[in-house]
Amino acid sequence: MNNGLLTRINEFLAETFLSSDIPGQLSEAMRYSLLAGGKRLRPMLFLSMARACAPERAEELTTRLMPFAAGLEMIHTYSLIHDDLPAMDNDDLRRGRPTCHKAYGEANAILAGDALLTNAFGYMTQAEAAADLLLKAIRLSAEAAGAAGMAGGQVLDLAAEGRAITLEALKILNAKKTGALLRCSCECGALLAGASERQMEAARIFGSELGIAFQITDDILDVVGEESAVGKQVRHDAECGKATWPSLLGLDAARQKAELCCKRAEMALDGILYGQDAEFLCQTARRLVGRTH
Ligand code: IPE
Ligand code: IPE
Ligand code: MG
Ligand code: MG
Ligand code: MG
Repeated sequence: MNNGLLTRINEFLAETFLSSDIPGQLSEAMRYSLLAGGKRLRPMLFLSMARACAPERAEELTTRLMPFAAGLEMIHTYSLIHDDLPAMDNDDLRRGRPTCHKAYGEANAILAGDALLTNAFGYMTQAEAAADLLLKAIRLSAEAAGAAGMAGGQVLDLAAEGRAITLEALKILNAKKTGALLRCSCECGALLAGASERQMEAARIFGSELGIAFQITDDILDVVGEESAVGKQVRHDAECGKATWPSLLGLDAARQKAELCCKRAEMALDGILYGQDAEFLCQTARRLVGRTH
């Protein structure tokens, strides 16, 4: 728990896409995936980073920046819906429920993803922050989700199926596919809190290292995790011939690599960010490797 942040994020999301202007099956499919649970890691990192950079304005920032936090979760949820499609990872289970295309059909799932991604940017513009900073944060988010970021990473992930790739190539794939949005969440949190250059740099390093560690543990969970805890199909990566950290390094070395990245993430904040939100960020890094879901 972190100052009730998770509850506040979930409450905000619960009020989205209820407009009667949205065709019923579309809003249902969007809300089905968005409100299915999920760790809300990206909005939590974003808000915690903002609060840690300006502790004296923590409460005010939380309220003002919540639409931006929600936008990050919408981008992430869109990426999961599309990632699960038959043309991509072809998964049946997500966040403990049948995947969006299983529940609503492929066309509605594609469009629910399209709408979540597009509306995310609309939500982001509703955050209350200095216009120049907000514009920059929105641009960073577009770049992180776009062709040189997450979408590009997904292309590399699919292209690597059934092929042996180098560790260097896996690092690039990982940094784009998962790392870009996690790093952007941290960077935008700092940026919109009016962080100093030193704090910005700490947020960037923290986000990058966490991004690597996060995908490594996601890959490890696919090998050793329980479907009921993970909420998605397990042992699926090997079946699909995915390039993963355990497949390249083995489980032990993959774990060690994740631990190292988490330590680096924590160290990046040391002496720069203080208080309970900085502590929450460090705890998140510390708990990442041993996570079971
Ligand atoms: C899973 O993300 C997909 C990856 C980017 C590895 P999360 O593990 O953050 O998924 P939720 O949001 O908790 O469902
Ligand atoms: C997905 O990575 C990353 C994005 C959705 C951008 P994975 O394919 O490993 O995620 P899971 O394991 O299906 O959640
Ligand atoms: Mg995938
Ligand atoms: Mg997948
Ligand atoms: Mg995975």
